Amino acid sequence: MSTRKKSPDDLRSSRWFGPDDLRSFGHRSRMMQLGYSEEEFRGKPIIGILNTWSELNSCHSHFKERVVDVKRGVLQAGGFPVEMPSLSVDESFNKPTSMLYRNLLAIETEEQIRAHPLDGVVLMGGCDKTTPGLVMGAITAGVPMIYLPAGPMLRGNYAGKILGSGSDAWKYWDERRAGNISDQEWLGIQGGIARSAGTCMTMGTASTMTAITDAMGLTLPGASSIPAVDSNHQRMGADCGRRIVDMVWEDLTPDQIITEGSVRNAAIIAMATGCSTNAVVHLIAMARRAGVDLTLDDLDALGRNTPLIANVRPSGKDYLMEDFFYAGGLRALMKQMEDRLDCSAMTVTGKTMGENLEGAQVYNDDVIRPLSNPVYKEGSLAVLRGNLCPDGAVIKPAACDPKYYHHEGPALVFDSYPEMKKAVDDENLEVTPETVMVLRNAGPLGGPGFPEWGMLPIPKALIKQGHRDMLRISDARMSGTSYGACVLHVAPESYVGGPLALLKTGDIVRMDLENRRLDMLVDEEEIARRRAEWTPPAPRYERGYGYMFSKHVTQADKGCDFDYLQRDFGANAPEPDI
Ligand code: FES
Ligand code: MG
Repeated sequence: MSTRKKSPDDLRSSRWFGPDDLRSFGHRSRMMQLGYSEEEFRGKPIIGILNTWSELNSCHSHFKERVVDVKRGVLQAGGFPVEMPSLSVDESFNKPTSMLYRNLLAIETEEQIRAHPLDGVVLMGGCDKTTPGLVMGAITAGVPMIYLPAGPMLRGNYAGKILGSGSDAWKYWDERRAGNISDQEWLGIQGGIARSAGTCMTMGTASTMTAITDAMGLTLPGASSIPAVDSNHQRMGADCGRRIVDMVWEDLTPDQIITEGSVRNAAIIAMATGCSTNAVVHLIAMARRAGVDLTLDDLDALGRNTPLIANVRPSGKDYLMEDFFYAGGLRALMKQMEDRLDCSAMTVTGKTMGENLEGAQVYNDDVIRPLSNPVYKEGSLAVLRGNLCPDGAVIKPAACDPKYYHHEGPALVFDSYPEMKKAVDDENLEVTPETVMVLRNAGPLGGPGFPEWGMLPIPKALIKQGHRDMLRISDARMSGTSYGACVLHVAPESYVGGPLALLKTGDIVRMDLENRRLDMLVDEEEIARRRAEWTPPAPRYERGYGYMFSKHVTQADKGCDFDYLQRDFGANAPEPDI
């Protein structure tokens, strides 16, 4: 039973609709213009349903129907639902990169909530950046919120073979470049790899971020694992609608849910699922919005002793999100990790995480492994430091060939993506399996927008010799569905004069994963000389949103939020005068 802490007069929306004055008369008459009688909305929790549906977001194509389920739930619980379209930051079509717009969605979310008569919100997202974007904005806005994850799409399928989002696209593309795949097969893969509504069904960025949100207590328990087109997903939608109304009466705000304990829970679960490297950037940004100072070093420390127990690709070998759901889903995985979690952390259910996990069970222990039989004994992420990345860089050891864990080789440096793309297709490119391929000017400012270019393509010359991995370094991100020996998020980025800008082709680079080091073996004097010669590149944007982005975005190790949106920048914006 919900414990009411608020009366109808205390509702935030009653500031708009309650008083007997001219302004409130205007608000009420406009609601009537929309076709509603006073008794439908007055004194009831007004629930904003922030819907990131768009015809160019293939992962959210079911949101037009799902919002109907949410509304049904809100009405049943005595609330008043209002659907509000939100910036649909889609991963597939958005250029130069969806990451450029994560913060724009966060700003829109925060401002839309604050500016309108909303008492609580349901956030509908899932495709990569929509999760952190919506959550970051809602944390700052501060009204009760519940996150509705889009859910993964069904397994891909072609010619009897199971296909995984992203991962198999890269894999078969390399085979096609090696001349091993016909046009007809390629077309079949194209039609079979994404065959239902929902987010990428590998443990890519989307599944990682929704799992993190679930582990943080911001979704209904286990909601992140439900496939988009499963009827469980519809019922979860209605449950979100019913629950948010009670959350408003209970005044259960995000600051009671997002605490050091819940952020730590989310980080542990990210590691145990074999998370996307993007999780690092987004989790830090979300945590900092809530005033929790999560650092790269905290994540590395958790990574060192958290086993990876979700056998889901790309870090796991065999399964996809649909299998993960049938095996018990995130609740079952969290149950395995219970002893390491802060089970007293509060969640949107009004109960603790420990209570939410009661009765959770693993149904297939090859998909969700026991701690005694992990896929990989340490967590999926490691943070490197050294003279190439004084503020850190990230690698996913579980997704790379162990022979690169300790590697020394000559750098082959590219200043831009097009230059690199051209070179890798040149069959006469001078490159050996020892070569360390480097791409720079691909960070938050240099990309611009921090594109997912970090899984640099293996040069054709090596592909033809049968090589499928090599050490690669960039200041870019990579897709959560990618794999390989890719060092990412080098900070500070080269574009702002980070040491990566000073590296030259032929310099020897050394990675020592065990000791978490990444260095160029170039002496100090020479580095100082190159630094004195370095000139900053021309600005990418001279006006517009890109200009604002470039003035305010923080580096990868700080989460790439805008400086002025971070919690410690200044006092929160006041509630508007009505
Ligand atoms: Fe939307 Fe992967 S493209 S989740
Ligand atoms: Mg992705």
